[in-house]
Amino acid sequence: MQWDFKQMQEQAVADAQAVDSPQALEAFRLKYLGKKGTVAAVFASLAQAEAADKAAVGKGANDLRSLAERLVAEKSLTAGQPKGQSAQVDLSLPGTGEALGHTHLLTQTMQEIIGIFEQMGFAAVETPEIETEFHNFTGLNIPVDHPSRDAFDTFYLDAEDPSSKGRRLLLRSHTSPGQVRIMKQHKPPMAVIVPGRVYRPDAVDASHSFMFHQIEGLLVDEHVRFSQLKGLLTEFCKRFFGNGVVMRFRPHFFPFTEPSAEVDINAEILGIQRKKWLEILGCGMVNPKVFEAVGYPKGKYSGFAFGMGVERMTMLKYGINDIRLFYENDVRFLKQF
Ligand code: PHE
Repeated sequence: MQWDFKQMQEQAVADAQAVDSPQALEAFRLKYLGKKGTVAAVFASLAQAEAADKAAVGKGANDLRSLAERLVAEKSLTAGQPKGQSAQVDLSLPGTGEALGHTHLLTQTMQEIIGIFEQMGFAAVETPEIETEFHNFTGLNIPVDHPSRDAFDTFYLDAEDPSSKGRRLLLRSHTSPGQVRIMKQHKPPMAVIVPGRVYRPDAVDASHSFMFHQIEGLLVDEHVRFSQLKGLLTEFCKRFFGNGVVMRFRPHFFPFTEPSAEVDINAEILGIQRKKWLEILGCGMVNPKVFEAVGYPKGKYSGFAFGMGVERMTMLKYGINDIRLFYENDVRFLKQF
């Protein structure tokens, strides 16, 4: 059989020009490229072709196939459009933008607290979450028989402390080990805050979590007084909660400060009904035993320290009554802040 490839190509171009709908395009595709289409028929004829014609027939089939494929591709961009109009874009339609995320409420609170202390001259420093017993306990004058050292009260790791044979590393139970680390590295005067995560094997409920955040504060110099600590924390609470805040310093005990106190915020005044007073931080004058543990000369320095719970402060400020909401990552909660 003789093929007039030139005529067939012209016909294909003409057929393609007539395509004006997706259905017509599919019919065109089938006519040329389908199983029973023209290109397949030409290839099938190869078997009977004269040996001398085979090359020409093969080339003609290939060329016709390429042409048909190109025409289908071109037409598929425009087929189905009403004549005389190119692809339409309706610029008045609303876009499909991605919703923008934002920092987590706890991160916002941390940044706010850090900002307030930076304005007062404190520098923010981060120290490790995996700690040694020395930094978390011993250096802070927490004796070996203290209950917080118990395996039920602290997460111990399955890893030996490289600096102390036979002792295991642990997840810090407070940010106070930051005090020991910083004092070992620097000489007073200093004013630092240490923000970060802390871990305690507490059962999770509305006010407890096995992981939460603290911000530690430490100021060391000569002749530092408790009244300065009180003034600083009072000013801090006013800036954080607003001038109407009502707070109290309640005597307390910590092995690493002496004297020590806890600060409570009057929750009723902030509009939270659950409990009248909510504890937000522990504080006190640095115990001379801690200065001794970090190698400072006896009697030379004095200072104060405090450690506040970021979740508690956030709950008070925003009227949140369940700590678990912070960690569930339910967008309906998070996007309110
Ligand atoms: N580390 C104490 C706690 O977690 C808080 C604290 C810090 C108390 C600094 C006094 C001084 O409860």
